[in-house]
Amino acid sequence: MTSMTQASPGGQSKLTVRKPKFDFSNGAPRHWLKNSGLLTHVMNSLSLMFPEGERFFIRSVNRFSDKIKTAEMQQSLKKFAGQETQHGQQHDKFNALLRQHGYEYEAYVAEMENFIFKKFEPFMTEKVWDKLGLSITAAAEHMTATWAAHFLKNRDAFAQTPDEIKNLWLWHAMEEIEHKDFAFDVLAEVDDSYLTRIAGLLFIAVGVPVIIGMIATRFISQDKTMTRADLIRDLPKLFITKDSLGRMFVASCVQYLDPKFHPRNNDDNYLLEEYFAQQEPLRAT
Ligand SMILES: [Fe+2]
Ligand SMILES: [Fe+2]
Repeated sequence: MTSMTQASPGGQSKLTVRKPKFDFSNGAPRHWLKNSGLLTHVMNSLSLMFPEGERFFIRSVNRFSDKIKTAEMQQSLKKFAGQETQHGQQHDKFNALLRQHGYEYEAYVAEMENFIFKKFEPFMTEKVWDKLGLSITAAAEHMTATWAAHFLKNRDAFAQTPDEIKNLWLWHAMEEIEHKDFAFDVLAEVDDSYLTRIAGLLFIAVGVPVIIGMIATRFISQDKTMTRADLIRDLPKLFITKDSLGRMFVASCVQYLDPKFHPRNNDDNYLLEEYFAQQEPLRAT
């Protein structure tokens, strides 16, 4: 395992690109998270959107690379892209496992991604407002960092999850905490207005639940092992309990509305320290 991230005096993190080699050859249980079909389908849906989503994040910051003035930030740009590229590649490998359960989703997700990234994204960023992609990315990075902190704080959530799958999510979570401020800082360099920042939040606040909800609904409707009673039993775990993903999502949106918000206001460096103290070293290339 490579070294832990250090915050520089300027506040910008020095990022590390790691190349883990997760081995998912043992497959994935149908309901690998808390033995819950609902929670697993939501996480699988997130995972399916990660590879193209993270390539979108990279494009969004690269679009404004000429606005990045310091050598340190330029270095972080490369590392940010390197980390997100690795996340996409590892989640692609994980996502291939979902085929083993016989769900039909690939054409559906491909069509959705085609609309979002081949039609909507170029139209919005090239014809309407070039900063929108970066603003969406900054907001999305806050959401992922919030979820990442949650999983690093609540590893018990993975008690019934195979180690390799747990390690994928914890590694991804750790790196999301490491680079949680990068897109936000690039957006501040490009345009530090509150309205520009909040525009991205609006797309995330609406788009993420809709997209994840549509994919997860498709999985749930095809999952013959999941009963209506299972669904009703698990709904509070998704939306109501204190540690539910839904509540966290809403709380992170509210936090982002604060005009003084900055990702570094959330001090979660200790989570990185804990990760490096506890985690098995990743198999690296
Ligand atoms: Fe990522
Ligand atoms: Fe990220």
